Amino acid sequence: MRYSDSGLGIWALGFANPKAPIPTRPGHPDSTYRVISYPTVKLTSRARFSTVCLHAGQEPDPATGAIITPIYQTSTYVQDGLGKHKGYEYGRTHNPTRAAVERNIAAIEGGKAGFAFASGMAAIGAIATLLKSGDHVVVSDNTYGGTFRLFDKVLTRYQLSFTYVDTGNLAETERAFTKSTRMLFVETPSNPIMRLTDLRAAADLAHRHDARLVVDNTFASPYVQRPIEFGADIVTHSTTKYLNGHSDSVGGIVISEREDDNEWFTFVQNAEGAILSPFDSWLVLRGTKTLPIRMQQHNANGMALAEFLSTHPKVKKVYYPGLPTHPQYELAKKQMRGFGGMLAFDLGSLDAARRVLNGVKLHSLAESLGGVETLISHPATMTHASVPAERRAALGITDGMVRISAGIEDIEDLKEDLSQALAL
Ligand SMILES: Cc1ncc(COP(=O)(O)O)c(C=O)c1O
Repeated sequence: MRYSDSGLGIWALGFANPKAPIPTRPGHPDSTYRVISYPTVKLTSRARFSTVCLHAGQEPDPATGAIITPIYQTSTYVQDGLGKHKGYEYGRTHNPTRAAVERNIAAIEGGKAGFAFASGMAAIGAIATLLKSGDHVVVSDNTYGGTFRLFDKVLTRYQLSFTYVDTGNLAETERAFTKSTRMLFVETPSNPIMRLTDLRAAADLAHRHDARLVVDNTFASPYVQRPIEFGADIVTHSTTKYLNGHSDSVGGIVISEREDDNEWFTFVQNAEGAILSPFDSWLVLRGTKTLPIRMQQHNANGMALAEFLSTHPKVKKVYYPGLPTHPQYELAKKQMRGFGGMLAFDLGSLDAARRVLNGVKLHSLAESLGGVETLISHPATMTHASVPAERRAALGITDGMVRISAGIEDIEDLKEDLSQALAL
């Protein structure tokens, strides 16, 4: 697939002006205190993906030269005089650590601007504020359960309507559009069935109907796919997952292309106030530095586990886009770089699933995904418990289905652990 790193230019460089004077403390008694200039990492417009992940949006701290962006744990900023400040007035509105992670992830996704929120759901909630009463949204049918809950239980109270379709089927998706449709909201691969949506075709379809294509890219990560390259207008992530990668932060981000949307998100992030904290911003910024090497291992382990499970006699079916038996394998090769660390498999019954889920020792039984540790879960009673049973059945989320978020452990240890649990 084309995996261009072009177009990252100005966003990769960041906004902060490297020529801005270094703050000094005139008259400070420490004689070694002097004005010094710090080298600034400058990315060219050709900077490759790993380099962008490591450096984009950050520069040595102007006060000290600290290579790592500090945690600006402050609620307010002292002003030089009435109406004279350094661009920072109040912590909800501006924070340098948050600004750095927003620039960093915008560059990683190849988008124009990023907006960091307190959780993935807060990010999706902010995207929904682009809609007005009477608007309609077409949504991938097996979208994350929490997204379905927000749309179905909260936003329908505000005269917004949602139609859930298999966005892997373009004709069916187009039939769901009405003259009020303003957004096509897609997850690819979808959770936990690993159904894909053709991103280029989805963008064309949305734009033909004067709607935005929004992609929840949490499952894939921007290492595996960058939807803006295929025409998406907005990308969102639960940064809780691969972007942070270490299972120690909850957060969300919106990356957006259109100038009018960027202005709105700047406004709404401050107006609603569900911002990512300075400490969580710092954690995510640390996480994105290793995103490429982590994802290589997640991809490798995901593939190896999918192959291992697909030959196991107790496993009825494996869901993984990297298997040639996956119905959209060709599309996966076209729009993904590797096939990710997420996979699901069906053991035929709740009892069989329970034996494996209770029998694993190295796999941790937990919700969430995208961390360095391998997690195992039961979609029907965990991540998708908020989806009504009939809907789960229609989507193919059976009681015997088990989902794995492959971590970065040694693959032989993971296979041994699954083998012993499957033998129980
Ligand atoms: C695909 C997807 N989108 C959004 C979310 C919501 O993110 P958060 O839990 O950070 O609010 C999740 C959480 O699991 C998810 O899997």
